[in-house]
Amino acid sequence: MTETLTVLGIESSCDDTAAAVLRETKDRRVEILSSVVFGQTELHSAFGGVVPEIAARAHAEKLDHCVQDAMATASVTFADLDVVAVTAGPGLIGGVISGVMCAKGIAAATGLPLVGVNHLAGHALTPRLTDQVPYPYLMLLVSGGHCQFLIARGPDEFTRLGGTIDDAPGEAFDKTARLLGLPQPGGPSVQAEAENGDPKRFRFPRPLMDRADCNMSYSGLKTALMRVRDQIVSEKGGLSRQDRADLCAGFQAAVVDVVVAKAKRALEQYMAEAPTQPTIAVAGGVAANTAIRAGLQTLCAEFQTAFVAPPLRLCTDNAAMIAYAGLERFKTGARDDMSLSARPRWPLDKTSPVLIGSGKKGAKA
Ligand code: KG4
Ligand code: ZN
Repeated sequence: MTETLTVLGIESSCDDTAAAVLRETKDRRVEILSSVVFGQTELHSAFGGVVPEIAARAHAEKLDHCVQDAMATASVTFADLDVVAVTAGPGLIGGVISGVMCAKGIAAATGLPLVGVNHLAGHALTPRLTDQVPYPYLMLLVSGGHCQFLIARGPDEFTRLGGTIDDAPGEAFDKTARLLGLPQPGGPSVQAEAENGDPKRFRFPRPLMDRADCNMSYSGLKTALMRVRDQIVSEKGGLSRQDRADLCAGFQAAVVDVVVAKAKRALEQYMAEAPTQPTIAVAGGVAANTAIRAGLQTLCAEFQTAFVAPPLRLCTDNAAMIAYAGLERFKTGARDDMSLSARPRWPLDKTSPVLIGSGKKGAKA
């Protein structure tokens, strides 16, 4: 293949409406020509979480503008495109349908091939887009809605080594911030408080640490934190700045310990199967956490294995990752048609049992 390939990607599975244009050049380099994200944070802020109906309506209103914006920024017309890739799940179903309908409309009007993409595959393939990581590699996907360890073997081939059995870590950060009166999203505010706190003053539980598998649990952590908060409030009448910082530091230390211990298990499992050191990559909003990054970096140094953390704008929800996953699928011959359906649940690893139910940000797989 000597031609360039230009892909339009569309993403609308949660609370970000996104479109991006990506081009694979003749020498097989991939360039992001544009990546536009219209966030919806302010629409949901009064409700303490994403409201699916509001999200779906906002996606339906914004998608056309978002696609137009992405194409104008990339200086391309429909005639320059080779493929339309769209998130077909998992996610909040109203939003996913909006994106799929938009992509089908474009494909029907232009005759362009349509490729449906699993949103989680978009996250999981990002290290290939940013750092050309070869298959197979070990991936920690950690966001407000997802948390799993995966072996990425190909664009449609993933093995899940483990994941959360309840809340995702991002949800735990957000709930902790709410319990302590800190602004949303909770991750950055809890991290900022933790920098001035003593992580040893409060020892929070590290659930499932003694289990040999890679599964995690984060819902008990916020309950434990709430109990300590209530005790301080009943004894002293309120929380001091130091109390708040120490609570955040104790909470963050517990999350880091669990993530790093389970990453070590995942690495050991991987190496038992193929005795080679894989690259470990992270993606998802929580991958922005400096303490988690530092913990994983130390682990990778210990195992003399490479660590890849894509830039934050490509770790959080975006359409460049969907365009990229679509490009990889397209090159394997994958094509969808007007029967492409939106899926609320769509596990990456079809053989692993379902771990969890539905969280604040919708169905997790
Ligand atoms: O991937 P993302 O943008 O959206 C989805 O969940 O799909 O992740 C958002 C999550 C939020 O829960 C936010 O609190 C968390 O990522 N987050 C962080 C940090 N920055 C964002 N969590 C911990 N530390 C951070 N620095
Ligand atoms: Zn996501």
